[in-house]
Amino acid sequence: MKYYWIKLDSCWSLSRTLMRDRNDDIMIDNKSENLSRRELIREGLVLAGGLVLAGSLSSCGGGNKKGEEFIRLAFNENPLGPCPKAREAMEAERNKPRTLTGLNRYPDFLQGDLFKAIAEFHNLAPENVVPGCGSSEIFNIIASCFLTAGDVFLTAVPTFRLPSEYAGLWGAEIKEVENRNDHGIDLDALASEVNQATRVIFLCNPNNPTGLVIKKNDLENFLASAWQKNPETIIVIDEAYGHYVEDPDFVSGRDYLGEGPLVVVRTFSHAYGLAGARAGYALAPLELADLMGGLRTPSLSEMGFHWKLGANYNRIAWAAAIASLKEGGEHLNRTRELNQKIKTVYYQAFSEMGWEYIPSETNFILANTGIPGDRIQAYLYKNGIQVQSGNAFHSRYANWIRASTGTEEEGRIFAEALGKYSADSPVADNVPRLYWWGY
Ligand SMILES: Cc1ncc(COP(=O)(O)O)c(C=O)c1O
Repeated sequence: MKYYWIKLDSCWSLSRTLMRDRNDDIMIDNKSENLSRRELIREGLVLAGGLVLAGSLSSCGGGNKKGEEFIRLAFNENPLGPCPKAREAMEAERNKPRTLTGLNRYPDFLQGDLFKAIAEFHNLAPENVVPGCGSSEIFNIIASCFLTAGDVFLTAVPTFRLPSEYAGLWGAEIKEVENRNDHGIDLDALASEVNQATRVIFLCNPNNPTGLVIKKNDLENFLASAWQKNPETIIVIDEAYGHYVEDPDFVSGRDYLGEGPLVVVRTFSHAYGLAGARAGYALAPLELADLMGGLRTPSLSEMGFHWKLGANYNRIAWAAAIASLKEGGEHLNRTRELNQKIKTVYYQAFSEMGWEYIPSETNFILANTGIPGDRIQAYLYKNGIQVQSGNAFHSRYANWIRASTGTEEEGRIFAEALGKYSADSPVADNVPRLYWWGY
């Protein structure tokens, strides 16, 4: 029982820290320190609900004052959307007779064909697969499965922050190693930090927000030296943007699954264009996948349920994910081609502005605007375009913005808007929080 109270307490303090850090309009007053545990939990739930609502209000796109849609270049989504086969599969799923296998029916709790499709795609066994409601759920599963007070979660900074947030929620100490001056992840410094307390190391490859990859040799050396220092450290490699990489020196962590406690995390949200469907997965050696699989909703291995049971993909996400994997790569190629084209447009626009940028292996680019990124973000917002301010990722990038690639038209509008920027350009004074945990 004590165990659960500790977790609830840390959950509460996390939501409190998040809200305070972000200076959101939800104020926490000191009297909450004196509330009973029951009241804290109740209040925590209300606030958590507020967070979700605020998140959806600020990130759902919406429109500008003229009622037009924003151009969304803030969330690294695929402007082409899902592949035609996935669209067809979703439509078919939606229209199934409601009495047999329609949306009024729970999905198959064994999720057999989903496991099989992912496993076949990666030439692995279904037992190596852990489906997640987006890869975000996988990071929660990793933290809840492997981390507790006294463990260290080691990661680079800046990087995708959600996994650290979950690690903190489950009581782990977060150890962050600053990226190098050339913006790359400092693998030597990370390796030197590994010790017996290091339970999980998180690597994002390619990294968000820098867009840089870890090269094959460097990854291999890192895995070897980290596991030499602690063979039980679980290394998590998030490859959310792996499909966009052009660098031939990039290698997927999937190739090293047999070599140690490794978890490779993938998502359908970006290159597959299914961010709204919420579909992701992990690939892991049997022993790890077995533990993680037991924590998918609504499965609970502690209650003796079979690890494969779960319903964390809804029927529509499920159909879309399988169709995307079986599509044959045509849509992925189109996605990559468009991405390369738009990256060139952005590079040129940044150069014309005299802005430094980091050539990216992903579908987003960090550019140094030379003035507060918040200002450029507010200027673009005023013009109906959403980007992230680098300030959201790290103070080191306070003068940067991160822009995702869009369609050709969106790329052109973005470049034109930048070209028209001047010191006295009007800016929006009400940019809602567009940043959540590094997305
Ligand atoms: C690096 C990285 N990993 C994981 C995610 C989460 O993706 P999802 O939960 O949509 O699969 C994101 C989202 O932007 C991301 O940037």
